[in-house]
Amino acid sequence: MWSDLPLFPQRASTMAGRVDALYFFLIAVSAFFSLLIAGLIISFAIRFRRRHDSEVGAPIHGSMALELVWTVIPLAIVLVMFVWGARVFYAMSRPPAGALEVYVTGKQWMWKFQHLDGQREINELHVPVRRPVRLTMGSEDVIHSFFVPAFRVKADVVPGRVTTLWFEAIAPGRYHLFCAEYCGTKHSGMTGWVVAMEPSDYQAWLSGGAAEGSLAAAGERLFQSLACNTCHRPDTQGRGPVLDGLFGKQVLMANGQTIVADENYIRESIMQPSVKVVGGFQPLMPTFQGLVTEEGVLQLIAYIKSLGPTKGPEPAGRTEGSDAAKPPPAGGRTR
Ligand code: CUA
Repeated sequence: MWSDLPLFPQRASTMAGRVDALYFFLIAVSAFFSLLIAGLIISFAIRFRRRHDSEVGAPIHGSMALELVWTVIPLAIVLVMFVWGARVFYAMSRPPAGALEVYVTGKQWMWKFQHLDGQREINELHVPVRRPVRLTMGSEDVIHSFFVPAFRVKADVVPGRVTTLWFEAIAPGRYHLFCAEYCGTKHSGMTGWVVAMEPSDYQAWLSGGAAEGSLAAAGERLFQSLACNTCHRPDTQGRGPVLDGLFGKQVLMANGQTIVADENYIRESIMQPSVKVVGGFQPLMPTFQGLVTEEGVLQLIAYIKSLGPTKGPEPAGRTEGSDAAKPPPAGGRTR
């Protein structure tokens, strides 16, 4: 009903309608009370104006009924706003399972995208429609903000940490991408396009690139060139923790704390390894700050994600006949 309004960008994601509905509700409540209060001020000013110099208003000693009305009604209204807003926020911050992963790096002044199959893009992101897409984002320098108005999604991209955002495009098209956080001279030029395509067109686009192999393979090459594999070995003989099956699991730290191995944990472990030391290990690992770019960090994260968690109980999976029937990857493990 509102899609023809030129004030609003196109609605091109599954979240757009929900965000707009909440937004219109807030606008309606604000407009109603603004008009009500302005109208009452004017009508009271006329009705209760002083007509003679001797006129003095009646003393007022308060009214419990009135106090209750103007407390309970606003409370009910803001609670509706809170619950509604929390539901939308919750839906926006939790990507559905099976989302397509894309890695994003913001830097002065461009957006770089890395797809799992190895395609790389600058200032243009190709995605399929009707499939959730989860962005894992890092910044090379200062704070940027990834903003696609047609999808009604925006998230800051902050140096020193990994942030995420998800959307599901519903209509093929080209949608404006903006940087929504002032990041220097050419901030206003840090724009791009999200190109949403029919799944078949997207597959065709995917097969057109990626000569270098997958993102996880790029991460694995980086892992080896930084000599991470001398300590993080797939057996338990290394000086560092085994990384196979690590991602998403709970890890016990030397200080007794338990931490979920997510993107931020892995990033921190590469950049500041001494902050969180895994139980049973010495803080031997040097920092890789300055030695690996943010894009490289995202490749390493993609590589570690590709190592697991393994599906199903591992010992059973290794000995089952059904597993042996599958063509095994060369040597079982690729490193
Ligand atoms: Cu990047 Cu503004």
